[in-house]
Amino acid sequence: MSEASRIYPVQDRIRSQSYLKSRADYQAMYQKSVSNPDEFWREQAMRISWFHPFDRVSDWDLAQASVRWFEGGKLNVSYNCIDRHLESRGDQTAIIFEADEPEHARHISYRELHAEVCRVANVLKSFGVKKGDRVCIYLPMIPELAYTMLACARIGAIHSIVFAGFSADAIRDRIIDSQASMVVTANEGLRGGKRIALKTVVDKAVDGLDVVKTVLVAKHTETEVNMVTGRDFDMAEEKARQRPTCPPEWMDAEDPLFILYTSGSTGKPKGLMHTTGGYLVYASLTHQYVFDVHPGDIYCCAADIGWVTGHTYIIYGPLTNGTTTIMFESVPTYPHAGRYWDMVQRHKVNIFYTAPTAIRAIAREGNQWVAPYDLSSLRILGTVGEPINPEAWEWYYQVVGKSQCTIVDTWWQTETGGILITPLPGVNDLKPGAATLPFFGVQPCVVDQDGQEITTTEAKGYLCMKAAWPGMARTVYGDHERFKQTYFSQYPGLYFTGDGCTRDRDGDYWITGRVDDVINVSGHRLGTAEIESSINAHEWIAESAVIGYPHEIKGTGILAFVILNADAGSPSDADVSNAVRGQVSSDIGKIARPDMVLVCPGLPKTRSGKIMRRILRKISIGAYDDLGNVTTLADPSVVDQIIQVHKNHK
Ligand code: WTA
Repeated sequence: MSEASRIYPVQDRIRSQSYLKSRADYQAMYQKSVSNPDEFWREQAMRISWFHPFDRVSDWDLAQASVRWFEGGKLNVSYNCIDRHLESRGDQTAIIFEADEPEHARHISYRELHAEVCRVANVLKSFGVKKGDRVCIYLPMIPELAYTMLACARIGAIHSIVFAGFSADAIRDRIIDSQASMVVTANEGLRGGKRIALKTVVDKAVDGLDVVKTVLVAKHTETEVNMVTGRDFDMAEEKARQRPTCPPEWMDAEDPLFILYTSGSTGKPKGLMHTTGGYLVYASLTHQYVFDVHPGDIYCCAADIGWVTGHTYIIYGPLTNGTTTIMFESVPTYPHAGRYWDMVQRHKVNIFYTAPTAIRAIAREGNQWVAPYDLSSLRILGTVGEPINPEAWEWYYQVVGKSQCTIVDTWWQTETGGILITPLPGVNDLKPGAATLPFFGVQPCVVDQDGQEITTTEAKGYLCMKAAWPGMARTVYGDHERFKQTYFSQYPGLYFTGDGCTRDRDGDYWITGRVDDVINVSGHRLGTAEIESSINAHEWIAESAVIGYPHEIKGTGILAFVILNADAGSPSDADVSNAVRGQVSSDIGKIARPDMVLVCPGLPKTRSGKIMRRILRKISIGAYDDLGNVTTLADPSVVDQIIQVHKNHK
């Protein structure tokens, strides 16, 4: 990515309110955070409530993948998100539930949240769930999802939320890996006016799985679903039996809070595990400063809680800070492409956070969907999930923000727990497409192929972190070796992000995207290896290679090159495409279905059998004359054949 063609200075309107007023303000605080990190984080930790103070701020060794924060401290996350606000803001709205149908929006106060979470906590306990047990949550974006995750936190159970777009097989894998004894789901989900049969998916996922003892079902629609006697229970009926109070379990700072599965370059998704104290301090501090949140602000992160963005910036960060946070059940185009802005106007949203893919999808519907709404409440606009292209950035800035709002392009990952590189309101002049500067305590570096740190200001290479921060994941659940191998072995002593980046002459970071076989499709993170292994499981397919290619709306589209088995018969290309897409939907979920399937006679392999994806990527963008050296291929003639297939498809 090149440097910004334009730079937009911070507006007075933003600076008049922001916590930080200049780059110098930021630098002073940043310097403190890296020159004496323990002192900095000891102070920052006081923003949350501790039942028992910690003895030691940090103890980490990245080379050993060993990270511990605030040891000796005891706290409870749900207490911090709810109870401590009851006295000062019990009647304030904690959550605005923006239902699929706009007229069904509902406000839930901190006091109501307390009662609901306690009831669910008591339900969990009544089924024998206790501290350390895993609970798999497969719920749509309804209040029950917030209640259940906070109820787990209240009793010390570890939640594993599975995005409600994943298939039965994907849930099953995650249940087995985490050995979850309970699944919490809903009869149906609603999205864009459509019903999604979640309970049916769960039935399939848990069929024959002894580990799952209980399935709790929240009734979101009127539809009756099959209930298995002795295993399935109605959430509302169970809640009605329980008291609305439940004492919080005091957890050690390093006790697990949740597991969240995410895709990597190899193998099945990994269960990244986050712990209690460091995660919460980091979630709370980043939420306040990155979004410049002030008391009374209405804050909306339009992500899904099934992804890390929703964990940290719909629930844990905002609620710890006593903010009013919106849970958005619908899609940006329902009932029309003005949905977001209608919502902003109705709730007078001040801070709005979404993904570039959503921005592109509504921008192309035209400005007439934005114009009718009063968006003057907006102050901060955020984006996350993939590099934002300058056109989408400009549209967000000008059409939505009327050049009066600041944009925070926040870079982070499931592994990092919270935002690591981002502009801060009031600090940075805006450069469309740049994530700009490290957050407090974050020490990025750029390394070259050989793992040497590039120390010049201007740099291009792989993005790594030199120091631990409180919010980072501690392990891969049940497989610490994999954690160490994946993130800490490539460049010993550093955390390797998997992203490429450049640093410009001002020291600002620009994220250029993944350098491994992970792709970000419509803000969903997927591994090409897991898609390939699903495709290869189809009886017609001998082998496949999956790559990401530039896609106008999704950011990255999924392209599968497949080779048929000799005994596959002669299915048409359309049949193969349907078969491949069906297989991936059932193994992983619709979000991972290839956008394009090309049946090829062979794949470009080296003599040692390695697929040269570089060549496939070039072909996918039509750069047929720029393939580089193909002489090392076992059979260079295959390249022309694949080019022909690609050309014919267009
Ligand atoms: C990408 C999402 C550029 C990046 C919170 C990262 C971004 C992956 C940005 C993590 C951004 C996220 N600019 N790229 N602002 N934010 N990414 O785990 O490739 O779902 O490694 O976490 O998304 O995706 P994940």
